[in-house]
Amino acid sequence: VEAVILVGGQGTRLRPLTIDTPKPMLRAAGVPFLLHQLARLRSAGVDHVVLATAYRADVFAAFFGAGDSLGIRVDFVTEVEPLGTGGGIRNVADMLESGPDEPVLVLNGDVLSGHDLAAQLDAHRDAAAAVTLHLVRVADPRAFGSVPTDAVGRVTAFLEKSPEPVTDQVNAGCYVFARRVIDAIPPVRAVSVERETFPALLAEGAVVQGYVDPSYWLDVGSPESFVQASADLVRGVIASPAVPEPSEALIRGSVAPDAYVAAGSVVDDGAGVGAGARVEGSIIMPGAHVGPGCVVTRSVVGTAATIGADCVLTDAVVGDRASVGARNELSAGARVWPDVVLGDCAVRFSSDR
Ligand code: GDD
Ligand code: MG
Repeated sequence: VEAVILVGGQGTRLRPLTIDTPKPMLRAAGVPFLLHQLARLRSAGVDHVVLATAYRADVFAAFFGAGDSLGIRVDFVTEVEPLGTGGGIRNVADMLESGPDEPVLVLNGDVLSGHDLAAQLDAHRDAAAAVTLHLVRVADPRAFGSVPTDAVGRVTAFLEKSPEPVTDQVNAGCYVFARRVIDAIPPVRAVSVERETFPALLAEGAVVQGYVDPSYWLDVGSPESFVQASADLVRGVIASPAVPEPSEALIRGSVAPDAYVAAGSVVDDGAGVGAGARVEGSIIMPGAHVGPGCVVTRSVVGTAATIGADCVLTDAVVGDRASVGARNELSAGARVWPDVVLGDCAVRFSSDR
């Protein structure tokens, strides 16, 4: 089976981390997020993947240019102008080798899922469907595609990001397409599968099947969900062939003997954590440094950024190469841009005494 992964989005909600690095290439559990998806696809028997790239395509080319080092053949196609989800899928059609009635997997590049890909493919075959959508239930469906199904699991409507969703069952961003349905998407223009292709298929009476699977599922498109995904991967809450050994923390850099690093944190290559610091559920990117006495919780410290002594970071994102002075308090979703220099005691959420 072949797979297409959509990796062309700008990752706006993850800025400033996505200024230099497209979302699927951000490191989660010590490797680019995309490698978890590729490893999973490989385990499911996928031998050929085509990446639909647009934003910062150069970063994918630099990483995957060398070919099939992961034991899976990876091709990539770049859109001159972003073509949206449907346009991106159509744009890679020339690279696919499947026959018209064969199934092709299509995945959003920012979803961490433990669902059973083989069972989704089986559901597609059993229903003789045009497209089969993986569906999950979420607490707040407004940010997703709301997808009601009938008694036999057939999709009856597709409402993308509706303020009034008709069901809490949503599109999980993993599809099986019959190859011919990909070829029928209009070429060389922007198309949204969510807003155009799926509603059109339903209107013409095509079989659009739902495959409901309640396994682990997370869209990693926001800072909160990205750190959560990384921590869950490190701890083995969600298994990934790219994380050989689950643990409380993944430590590749240097951690002072009396520092405490836990709750699925990553201290990546060449990164450091100073004396007495506490790091929980956080990602310390390669070459970054957390000073002595800091408390870092559910935060990302970007590549080669430095955090001075006694800082508190809670639900914060520090951009690449930024320098945060001593005794700063960054919390509640604070985002520091790359290369910014913050002086000592420059931002606090509490008194300094
Ligand atoms: N090649 C290409 N070109 N890829 C794109 C483009 C484009 O122009 N625009 C977006 N993508 C990719 C993104 O990189 C991402 O992997 C995927 O398409 C989905 O885009 P997001 O921006 O992450 O969409 P979303 O999370 O708001 O909504 C989508 O995912 C939800 C599940 O996580 C929709 O498919 C929803 O219906 C779904 O519920
Ligand atoms: Mg998303």
